[in-house]
Amino acid sequence: MIIFNGYKCLLVFSILCYLTRPVLSDCLNAPIENFDYFPNKIAYHTEAGRRDFDVTYHNTYIVVTTKKFLETYVLYCTATRPADAPVVTTSYIQVPVNNVAVYDSSIVSFLEILGEELKLKYVLDKKTITSPCLQKHNDLYELFNAANTTLVAGTDVIFQSQPSITGGKFVSIAIDEETSALKGAEWIKFISLFFNKTDVAKEAYDKIQQNYLCHVDNVSKVPKKSKKSIAWVSLESDNTFTIKQTSFYSNITMDAAADPLISITSNVEVEELHKELHDAFIVIDLSELTPPNDTLDSWKRLFGYQTSGVTLPNFITQKRLFRTRKLLNNMAHDDWDETSPSRPDLVIQDLLAIQYPSYQKDYYVRWFDKFAETGDVKILTGDQCDENTFGLPKNDFGTCVPKQFTGDGKDIDGNKVPVKAKDGDNDNNDNDENKKKVKPGFIIAGALSGAFVIFGLGTWSLIVARRKYRERFVKLRDEHEIQSKGVKEVNEINK
Ligand SMILES: *[C@@H]1O[C@H](CO)[C@@H](O)[C@H](O)[C@H]1NC(C)=O
Ligand SMILES: *[C@@H]1O[C@H](CO)[C@@H](O)[C@H](O)[C@H]1NC(C)=O
Ligand SMILES: *[C@@H]1O[C@H](CO)[C@@H](O)[C@H](O)[C@H]1NC(C)=O
Ligand SMILES: *[C@@H]1O[C@H](CO)[C@@H](O)[C@H](O)[C@H]1NC(C)=O
Ligand SMILES: *[C@@H]1O[C@H](CO)[C@@H](O)[C@H](O)[C@H]1NC(C)=O
Repeated sequence: MIIFNGYKCLLVFSILCYLTRPVLSDCLNAPIENFDYFPNKIAYHTEAGRRDFDVTYHNTYIVVTTKKFLETYVLYCTATRPADAPVVTTSYIQVPVNNVAVYDSSIVSFLEILGEELKLKYVLDKKTITSPCLQKHNDLYELFNAANTTLVAGTDVIFQSQPSITGGKFVSIAIDEETSALKGAEWIKFISLFFNKTDVAKEAYDKIQQNYLCHVDNVSKVPKKSKKSIAWVSLESDNTFTIKQTSFYSNITMDAAADPLISITSNVEVEELHKELHDAFIVIDLSELTPPNDTLDSWKRLFGYQTSGVTLPNFITQKRLFRTRKLLNNMAHDDWDETSPSRPDLVIQDLLAIQYPSYQKDYYVRWFDKFAETGDVKILTGDQCDENTFGLPKNDFGTCVPKQFTGDGKDIDGNKVPVKAKDGDNDNNDNDENKKKVKPGFIIAGALSGAFVIFGLGTWSLIVARRKYRERFVKLRDEHEIQSKGVKEVNEINK
């Protein structure tokens, strides 16, 4: 009996095994008809019509279209291209991919989050890599050379940021200045399709978005009068200036409770520039300054602030001129270029920290360095590689502890502005005054209902309610203390 039962058990087990068996090899060598090889469907956060890319699912292939460059990619898991795929296709790519080339170092950080950095085989320039683990293991990848056909044949996909070459194995990731920070980070879902890692991408993006929006929410009540203005500027090769108003910069500036400067933007001449920047609280310089012209004095000269008769604006005298060059590799290449596109949650915290050091007291600014302070730099080396997570999905993005923040109570000149700190009722639209003018009718009604409460049974329930409120208040305070400790730990990790 026992043997028979055991046999039955085994039988059932192997049938189950057989039924749940189909994996990649089945798709590659013997695809089962009507079997879905892409069971994990992409989950969008952006509504249809506003998305940068779209996916349609078929059993053995998916069709991915991108909006900006109007490209169509067919990603298939069978040994040969699907015959019934769309006629107009930019590239056919067999997935999951194993050998990846990247033209743009920002894609490297997306691969790392997905835990696919070991599949990176070619880069355009090894010296620019800032990731500690990829610096340490820089023998795992080589220099890319598009003219070498053997080399190109050995790759499965080549990620680039502009469609400089189309077709073949080239795939364009359209993240640029016109992409708001969160939408840029959402491209991790696109990249994950090539690795069959949609679920990893979803988990990572969800956390990044959640943290980002938590910070946006918590500073959304900073009153207009104490908002700071932030200008992102750049010296162009034709010696004109740009004040960045493209979506990435203006969107994240506003999300960080600051005002972007709005007026002229490109081809700015020096006099106009000085007028625009006169009232800027913070200026972030994005110019490509090459040594020996990368000092503060050179900057002042190049930006026309060393001309006699020009009075220095506050952002210079108060040392609020920043660059993105706080975190560099040994070769002085900037981690901002590699990591900021995938981590808007850190960009917004950096922006909040340089405006309001009191927002998260223990936060360590990652990218923005004070130009006036020479020691404000940290070098990333291979020694900082965490081997435990190398090649594995990263999902520790810290947590945003919800808290209300209503600014520092000062305007950009340092003058005090009234902040209603306790009730969280501040409106950023400057209509506090209107709210204070309570209509007389309400006062009478309020007094009357107050009278009803005081007389009769109302008195008793009021006392109970007050006691309950006090208990809750004490509890909340305790919880808050625990949460603050959490912030410290998270920030330690970020360091
Ligand atoms: C993708 O992964 C799922 C399991 O998560 C698997 O069932 C499916 O066959 C894989 N598809 C491909 C094309 O590798
Ligand atoms: C092309 O790339 C392959 C593989 O990396 C390499 O072995 C070969 O020497 C290269 N050929 C040329 C002409 O550079
Ligand atoms: C802070 O953010 C959290 C998460 O988004 C939210 O629940 C909380 O209400 C926010 N607090 C304020 C005062 O906005
Ligand atoms: C920034 O962009 C997101 C979409 O990615 C949008 O939801 C948000 O409202 C924008 N913020 C501002 C301040 O425009
Ligand atoms: C530095 O700036 C000066 C003056 O603008 C210019 O003549 C020189 O070529 C610059 N040097 C470099 C290395 O860019």
